[in-house]
Amino acid sequence: MSSRELGLVLAQQLLDVDDLHYGVWDDDLPLSFSNLAEAQQRYTDMILNALPPPESNGVRVLDIGCGTGHLLAQLLARGYCADGLVPAPRLAEQVRRRLAEQTEQPARLFESTLEQFPVEDFSGYYDVALFSESFQYIPLSASFPILEHIVRPGGQVLICDFFQTEHAGDGGPGDRSFGGGHRLQAFYDALEASSFSLSQDLDITRRVSPNIRLLDETLMHRLLPAGQTLNRYLSTNYAFSWRIIRSLFGTVFRKKLEKHKYKYFSGHRSQAVFERYKTYRLLKLERETSVE
Ligand SMILES: C[S@@+](CC[C@H](N)C(=O)[O-])C[C@H]1O[C@@H](n2cnc3c(N)ncnc32)[C@H](O)[C@@H]1O
Repeated sequence: MSSRELGLVLAQQLLDVDDLHYGVWDDDLPLSFSNLAEAQQRYTDMILNALPPPESNGVRVLDIGCGTGHLLAQLLARGYCADGLVPAPRLAEQVRRRLAEQTEQPARLFESTLEQFPVEDFSGYYDVALFSESFQYIPLSASFPILEHIVRPGGQVLICDFFQTEHAGDGGPGDRSFGGGHRLQAFYDALEASSFSLSQDLDITRRVSPNIRLLDETLMHRLLPAGQTLNRYLSTNYAFSWRIIRSLFGTVFRKKLEKHKYKYFSGHRSQAVFERYKTYRLLKLERETSVE
């Protein structure tokens, strides 16, 4: 399991949530962990509402990077002919369990990356390819050629994810605090060179970014003081052994520790920094109807 996958699985276990996206926070929803599931469901509803309505003969959707399968199950419940794709075995296990418990609709689950998807078997098959906070994980050079293969002419790609703004890499405070995301301009360039055109480009950064504040406040005002208390206790009561453990740990993991310290506890992982360096978009792409 890669460290990013580990982060996703841990976040899901620690927060006890069904979704692995940030959620959207509107003014009527107070920012608190007890409202996180509601914020995430609002995000999911936003995606569901952006899809073409399910028809009696079914709209074929591929949920790419489907996480725990929460959205996939809702797609099936609404009558979409939906398949899921997820490379992480721990998540795939959860998707299988969820589908077995919650739906009798047939759905394929591809346990693979998009890059390894069997494109030849699904040429022009899907009406919609969907990415819910998963587009950033796939290199742009890989995603567009695959999407051109599997989405039928006239079909759609729906992407809800964050991208890097033009400020990324400027070396300002917090520039390296948030990883992930393609450069938005690089995305537009790749799109321009593809057989898709942009039919919707909604900037939802400010609706998503309160989630960053919620996480930042928890890290800085709860986890950090709790860690400091524990450190004081161990230093007082087990001074010798604790010093050895810290020194061993520090030698082996120094680089990683410093990186994580900068990322999570330097005070730069704030809502304002996120809004400067990331832009969260809901993007709808249409594939040309006649493609050579
Ligand atoms: C942030 S989670 C989002 C999960 C889910 N879509 C949601 O909204 O809750 C990112 C997802 O992308 C998947 N992923 C990572 N690399 C991928 C790749 N190369 N191809 C397809 N999916 C990938 C992860 O396994 C995970 O399920």
